[in-house]
Amino acid sequence: MKAVVFDRVGPPAEVLSVRDVPRPTPGRGEVLVRMLASPINPSDLMYIAGRYGLRPQLPATPGFEGVGVVEASGGGLLGWIRKGKRVAVINDRVGNWGEYTVTTARQVIPVPEELPDEQAASFFVNPATAVVMTTDVLRVPPGEWLLQSAAGGALGKMVIRLGKKNGFRTANVVRRPEQVEELAQLGADAVLVEADGPIDEQVKALTNGAGVKYAVDPVGGKTGSEVIASLGAGGRCLLYGSLSDEAITLHPRKLLSAAIRVEGFWLADWAKRQSIPRMLRLFRRVRALMTDGTLRSDIAATYPLDRVSEAVTHAAAPGKGGKVLLRIGERGA
Ligand SMILES: NC(=O)c1ccc[n+]([C@@H]2O[C@H](COP(=O)([O-])OP(=O)(O)OC[C@H]3O[C@@H](n4cnc5c(N)ncnc54)[C@H](OP(=O)(O)O)[C@@H]3O)[C@@H](O)[C@H]2O)c1
Repeated sequence: MKAVVFDRVGPPAEVLSVRDVPRPTPGRGEVLVRMLASPINPSDLMYIAGRYGLRPQLPATPGFEGVGVVEASGGGLLGWIRKGKRVAVINDRVGNWGEYTVTTARQVIPVPEELPDEQAASFFVNPATAVVMTTDVLRVPPGEWLLQSAAGGALGKMVIRLGKKNGFRTANVVRRPEQVEELAQLGADAVLVEADGPIDEQVKALTNGAGVKYAVDPVGGKTGSEVIASLGAGGRCLLYGSLSDEAITLHPRKLLSAAIRVEGFWLADWAKRQSIPRMLRLFRRVRALMTDGTLRSDIAATYPLDRVSEAVTHAAAPGKGGKVLLRIGERGA
């Protein structure tokens, strides 16, 4: 079968190639999935570059999520039940950027017929993170402000729609002014442009000097530092990414005097600590919110597997305007 492979970590467009490799065999409790499509997420790019929390065992095939059809089970009741189903494929062992992949039967989730492959491909990583951070971890109450940076990205847009649905107000930081109108149309309550001045000063003006109680930041560096500085008394910020690859500056007095909390959030780690029934409830919530459009992803472009270098270059470009997908196979094939 064809798969994207890298032998060394480094710039994705340089280190990736498409090769013929043996088709993997599922063990007991695992399934073989014929892949249809997979998104190129920032986590994939960081994994290939060797800048992710999980180190690749080389040679490696990237791809944490995607959509496919279960072709075979390696044994066990759940795998047998899933056989023939179109499923969202979560793969914490990675390897979804190939014609076939193997993962545990528990990590394939049947997707509704009406959900196109392009949406089903991004069923878990961003949607679950947006839902869990806002409603399970921070539990942002209706009427409260949630401040977020990188608000014009795929996950940021989901948070804006969740705010509309659940009644919390979103203050959205973007680096490109042309996104102000787009996010306002989506339901953003405020859009702050980084170039218009320090984020904390803009937030003070928005909140009559009080600051916000809830914030999420996937950027780090200057942006993340200013997001943290925007917290009011008792405020809490989740750091869930490192897009700028730069450290955050935090004065200890802010932690002491305003009693703020700054924590990391990583979905994979959170999910490991949840019971199976709780994860099943999360999958049901995500499925419903994907079907009603709340957790929809805009698609910027779709590339075949053998144009993976172009695809990763596009996915890393500023202002790409949506998810870049790898189209790997067709439903009826
Ligand atoms: N912790 C977890 O479990 C978890 C789970 C899911 C996602 N994430 C993280 O969430 C983040 C967003 O993911 P996504 O899929 O929404 O990505 P995406 O669609 O590629 O969007 C990224 C957004 O970040 C902005 N951005 C990129 N670099 C920036 C920088 N240096 N300064 C300011 N803004 C910057 C981009 O702005 P432009 O539009 O101007 O290019 C874009 O709006 C990523 O860091 C990802 O790793 C974490």
